[in-house]
Amino acid sequence: MRQPHKCLGFFSFILIMAWPILTLSQAVPGNPQNGKILFDKHCANCHGEKGTGDGPDTQFLLVQPANFLSLESRSKTDWELMNVITYGAVFSPMHGWSERLTEEERWDVLRYIRILAPFNPIAQLHPLPKTSG
Ligand code: HEC
Repeated sequence: MRQPHKCLGFFSFILIMAWPILTLSQAVPGNPQNGKILFDKHCANCHGEKGTGDGPDTQFLLVQPANFLSLESRSKTDWELMNVITYGAVFSPMHGWSERLTEEERWDVLRYIRILAPFNPIAQLHPLPKTSG
């Protein structure tokens, strides 16, 4: 005799195992293609095309832009970076973008930054010797 309830148990098991993947993939908002367009237009002059903090406008700045590829920036969470993008950083030319970019656009640009410089949570725990720049 067939036992459909065993099948059911198996499928529930698969669903439970896959759940974090399904939900986590939805928890990463932002469209990096659109983010690149926005980044090149609004951010690259300071942060540099590759996010290394050496765009052409840096010659006019007292406070230098963050290098997103630095371990310091890479170890920051999306939430931390999103806060700076939204509200800006005090006493710096990095103003908040909440009035010029929608929340969706700010996520797009953050997603693109994370492609240039992927999140690395252990960067702070194992600091490498600082290289110039
Ligand atoms: C006028 C130059 C300038 C422009 C334009 C600019 N930034 Fe910045 N940004 C800075 C500076 C300077 C800092 C460093 C602030 C500090 O350390 O006090 C910074 C810091 C940041 C940080 C924090 C990095 C970290 O490691 O804490 C993020 C994220 C960021 N900028 C994203 C953006 C995005 C996204 C845009 C475009 C929408 C943008 N910036 C446009 C100058 C700029």
